[in-house]
Amino acid sequence: MIKAIYYNFNDNGEGSEGERWLRYLDGRCFPDDKPLRLEDAFEWVLVTSKITPEAFCGWRPIDNMPAHAFLSRAGVLPEARGQGLQKFMIDLREDAMRKAGQVRSITYTEAYSVASMRSLMACGYKPFEPTKAIVHKIVVSKDRWKQMVYWKKSL
Ligand SMILES: CC(C)(COP(=O)(O)OP(=O)(O)OC[C@H]1O[C@@H](n2cnc3c(N)ncnc32)[C@H](O)[C@@H]1OP(=O)(O)O)[C@@H](O)C(=O)NCCC(=O)NCCS
Repeated sequence: MIKAIYYNFNDNGEGSEGERWLRYLDGRCFPDDKPLRLEDAFEWVLVTSKITPEAFCGWRPIDNMPAHAFLSRAGVLPEARGQGLQKFMIDLREDAMRKAGQVRSITYTEAYSVASMRSLMACGYKPFEPTKAIVHKIVVSKDRWKQMVYWKKSL
């Protein structure tokens, strides 16, 4: 059974057990990327089908776009992939978004990230052409925005 383990990262602050897991998972899942920044998500969630965390994900409302939210970084340990953890994490974040009053979920993937794209399609996401304003609000790396595929779904 897949389950979510919630830590309140804001209250626990730097150095908490939850943050240590988050940084460990991020390092294993994104060895070539800059480390995640806690402020890039409103809520981070750790997920597992075992006892200790095997995956992580985050989401946040999009500034100045009422009722729009962004699926932030998500990663699954290589040894835990292919059992639906990412799709579970998409559903989980959509539930949280709905509870927070959001009506549309937006995200992007690298153009080569087939596993992510398949999960998003399976969960009902459609690719779209973003406005510059949206790109500004969600893409961290300004020089790579054209290499991304953008996805949206009405909640
Ligand atoms: C992308 C990632 C999160 C997927 O996690 P996962 O738990 O294995 O995903 P799921 O099991 O929910 O689903 C993956 C889907 O992609 C498919 N898939 C996986 N690897 C694939 C590959 N190399 N080529 C084609 N399809 C692939 C699976 O069959 C599944 O498809 P389905 O829904 O049609 O059955 C994981 O591979 C990962 O952490 N990658 C590194 C970090 C990353 O790229 N994160 C996402 C960007 S933020």
